[in-house]
Amino acid sequence: MRSLILFPVLATPETASMAWSAKPAAVRLGTAADIEPCLELWAETVRARDGAEVDPSQLHIQLERARLKFLGAVNAFLVTEDELGLTGFALAVPHEPADDGTHLALIGTRPRAQGRGVGRALLQELTRFRRESGDRALDLRVLTGNSGARRLYQKLGWLEVGKPEPHEVTGKLFQRYELRF
Ligand SMILES: CC(C)(COP(=O)(O)OP(=O)(O)OC[C@H]1O[C@@H](n2cnc3c(N)ncnc32)[C@H](O)[C@@H]1OP(=O)(O)O)[C@@H](O)C(=O)NCCC(=O)NCCS
Repeated sequence: MRSLILFPVLATPETASMAWSAKPAAVRLGTAADIEPCLELWAETVRARDGAEVDPSQLHIQLERARLKFLGAVNAFLVTEDELGLTGFALAVPHEPADDGTHLALIGTRPRAQGRGVGRALLQELTRFRRESGDRALDLRVLTGNSGARRLYQKLGWLEVGKPEPHEVTGKLFQRYELRF
């Protein structure tokens, strides 16, 4: 898989546990085996987030777009789990157009695990990992109406950049956020 060739440190749980021994036990590096479970988790979180608004064909398109993100270049893939299985994940990719940063492409916490610090832990570990890898900044885009996610980013020091803009595919309004370090 392309991401594992580009970022071999992400490929094995052994290297992951060596590199991440000081981090909270629930956060680890994702592997190729985690991709499908993360896509299932993503579908569950989107259904829970958007409720009756979710059109099954749109959800299918969203999932295929999410799948493609895992198959391209990956700067960080982190997952969290508890005794029942995966609780959350974050996927970060090179910033486009390429500069000194990384783009947070996906972050989700399974509905049953929300409100317990999973999103916070994923973002904190992602920040530390990318800072140690030489990045100077992270960025992301979030739907303007996604107030829970926006609150999470703001609490962790992310700042709004520019005005909301329509997504190039869906037309929905997104706000860009950035974290500089
Ligand atoms: C956004 C999301 C990842 C947050 O994950 P989470 O694990 O529930 O977040 P945490 O428990 O770590 O919350 C950390 C902080 O974020 C804020 N926060 C998170 N979700 C919130 C919500 N729904 N409403 C208000 N504040 C929220 C809280 O202030 C919380 O701080 P506190 O613990 O001091 O109260 C989760 O709601 C999710 O998966 N949503 C669906 C997918 C999505 O929209 N992803 C973002 C796309 S850009």
